[in-house]
Amino acid sequence: MRVGIVGLGYVGLPLAVAFAAAGVDVLGVDTDEERIAALAAGRSYIEDVSDAALAAAGLRCGSNYAPLADADAVLICVPTPLSVNREPDLGALLSSAGALGEVLRAGQLVVVESTSYPGTTRERVAPVLERGGLRAGSDFNLAFSPERVDPGRTDHTLASTPKVVGGLTGACTDRAEALYRLVCDDVVRVSSPEVAELTKLLENIFRAVNIALVNELAMLTDRMGIDIWEVIDAAATKPYGFMRFEPGPGMGGHCLPVDPFYLSWRAREFDMPVEFIELAGKLNQQMPYHCVAKLQRMLNDRSRAVNGARIALLGVSYKPGVGDTRESPALKLVELLRALGADVVYHDALVPALDALGLRSLPLDEALRGADCAVIVTAQPGVDHDAAAAAVPCLLDLRGVTRPAANVVRL
Ligand SMILES: NC(=O)c1ccc[n+]([C@@H]2O[C@H](COP(=O)([O-])OP(=O)(O)OC[C@H]3O[C@@H](n4cnc5c(N)ncnc54)[C@H](O)[C@@H]3O)[C@@H](O)[C@H]2O)c1
Repeated sequence: MRVGIVGLGYVGLPLAVAFAAAGVDVLGVDTDEERIAALAAGRSYIEDVSDAALAAAGLRCGSNYAPLADADAVLICVPTPLSVNREPDLGALLSSAGALGEVLRAGQLVVVESTSYPGTTRERVAPVLERGGLRAGSDFNLAFSPERVDPGRTDHTLASTPKVVGGLTGACTDRAEALYRLVCDDVVRVSSPEVAELTKLLENIFRAVNIALVNELAMLTDRMGIDIWEVIDAAATKPYGFMRFEPGPGMGGHCLPVDPFYLSWRAREFDMPVEFIELAGKLNQQMPYHCVAKLQRMLNDRSRAVNGARIALLGVSYKPGVGDTRESPALKLVELLRALGADVVYHDALVPALDALGLRSLPLDEALRGADCAVIVTAQPGVDHDAAAAAVPCLLDLRGVTRPAANVVRL
């Protein structure tokens, strides 16, 4: 069995390693030469894949698609971002499908894992793959299977998380199911690629909407003088009918700030504005501004201004345990605080530099030394946040991880 993986990022690399561990011969393709060089040198750039696991996998990686002609199945895991106008950007997906189409052989299985709107696999990817004359569903099999990886998570793995698959035909679904059974304990068959595509979007929209709900309540409880964290802790004692979501400085990562808008874009074609998605996006985007206002008030109470203050941000990745800063609200906070005249420094052991902002991570004690205040943006593991609070005049905790203290303000 030989499996090709196109796009060796947060999704593709762990998948490649999992297939290799199951005894499959894995061919990896990525257009990023630096990543290919890192893999050739045995260096993993994804936290969830250790160098030892990479070495054990013995992946064969390159930037050339030609070897994929020898694969039984090819999984496409390339990025699906939004364009500057916040519309689906299928550029990487369609160019990878185009390059794969040139080497595609009859009898192969192609599975799209990149998140997209319902209809992408059938209407956009299939015609590109078919340019060489082979027909999807008859000459080769085609399916969609959303990736559900949660980077940094250890309690649910690729193997223990059920994998949804929807093929163009029943035979396409059969083959995709058989493939994923090699690495997943449970495979969930659905009737079409469209159902599988929308399943992924529903999961992400569910999270985006619930985070927005609790963020809106956090803005309200701020005015009411009620501690939102205490409310959430109390509500979470209900054994049914409630699911815990926490407020924060905004939504980050590749998925939640992006994926829901793939559906809202598609929905317009059906004369149906999907208001929950837009409202959630609007509320979540307000959070960095709310956090800056709260910081201004905290400093004001101590007769200080943001202008001229040294502000130490703790944790700048979009979530704990990872070094990924894509769409991280920390980036917006730096921009807003600098616009108000702050001198911003940061500490994040998993993010050595924020090149676009000209910042490098300082050791924790150096970041806190001389700071007028600190802000916990992302609660990275291994940081003693209570000790950090004790080391600065005041601290704004945007993650609810500190014990109450006179100089601590919580979101
Ligand atoms: N990161 C996550 O937690 C996550 C979770 C579920 C689903 N997804 C989805 O999976 C897809 C991939 O996300 P990711 O986070 O792994 O992205 P990523 O940026 O980490 O990795 C994508 C890789 O694809 C490569 N690439 C780009 N264009 C290519 C091309 N034409 N040919 C070959 N390689 C190419 C890039 O160089 C990169 O290494 C996206 O659609 C995303 O929405 C991501």
